[in-house]
Amino acid sequence: MILANNLTKTYGNQIAVDQLNLDIPQGQFFGLIGPNGSGKTTSIHMLSTLLQATSGSITINGLDVTAHPQQVRRDIGLVFQESALDRMLSIEENLYFCAGLHGINKSAIKTRINSLLDLFELQSKKRASVGSLSGGMRRAVDIIRGVLHSPKVLFLDEPTVGLDLPSRRRIWRFIRNLIDDHKLTVVLTTHYLEEAAPCDNVAFIKLGKLVSEGSPEELIEQLGKTIVEVSGSNAEDYIKTLKLSAEDYMLDGRTLLIRVHKPQPNQVEQIQATLRDSADIISVRKSNLNDVFIWLSSKGQGTS
Ligand SMILES: Nc1ncnc2c1ncn2[C@@H]1O[C@H](COP(=O)(O)OP(=O)(O)OP(=O)(O)O)[C@@H](O)[C@H]1O
Ligand SMILES: [Mg+2]
Repeated sequence: MILANNLTKTYGNQIAVDQLNLDIPQGQFFGLIGPNGSGKTTSIHMLSTLLQATSGSITINGLDVTAHPQQVRRDIGLVFQESALDRMLSIEENLYFCAGLHGINKSAIKTRINSLLDLFELQSKKRASVGSLSGGMRRAVDIIRGVLHSPKVLFLDEPTVGLDLPSRRRIWRFIRNLIDDHKLTVVLTTHYLEEAAPCDNVAFIKLGKLVSEGSPEELIEQLGKTIVEVSGSNAEDYIKTLKLSAEDYMLDGRTLLIRVHKPQPNQVEQIQATLRDSADIISVRKSNLNDVFIWLSSKGQGTS
């Protein structure tokens, strides 16, 4: 559904996105993750026709986005990092205006708008100005706006920033249903990595470059499935005592995180035995996408 080939964007001599290749099939839930400034929004803007790539090519549903931007726009929905709603207009006015931009007339969309407003419990607010809504309500309207024309692809750039847990859950239930029932293809960027955990595929980008890609399970497997956390006053000394190589640990204040990834039997027991007398707390837990993120963010390319 989405193919990007050597996608690149430069600003002066700064490279925001550097030869990015993506191949996202229909119905996939795809996560683009990476540190602030790594090029996620820039990539999404190029994929969604809003920004001209410096070089490289993109096709969506078989259409080249540069040659056929209008046709591509019919197939895609967007939820921006910053709200795209007119705060002076009511929810209803915003949604009808947006439907108009897609060439859908008022009577054809009325039932759909009402059922979406019901779903997000916004029916009683539909005549309120968007500027008077809470942040969570506004985000829900942004999502409704993004899917109003039943797109085949939905781009979500940090869709749930600042939302409480029930609001986030409701949005994710809604999007999950669209993926399962309508084979919607979703491209998500988020800094809440637990939201990327249900993705089918995740690409990690850093300084505009794709550094690692795979299912969340594969990325966790590459990192190592177990993390040992050691707290104590001599975290620096523990590194020397255990002879850890730079890519195998992270120091977070007084806590040392060690990834267990080599097929080495009893590694956890050895760490525990070595540090038993000097460390305050030694805990063992399963790795998660947050660990993948901090390791890839700070330790460069390889984690295997
Ligand atoms: N219009 C612009 N002019 C110059 N540089 C830009 C422009 N837009 C983005 N950049 C630069 O491109 C890089 C990537 O920015 P981008 O917004 O894509 O990052 P991001 O991954 O979305 O970050 P965040 O997680 O903070 O949203 C940054 O270094 C940014 O400063
Ligand atoms: Mg961004």
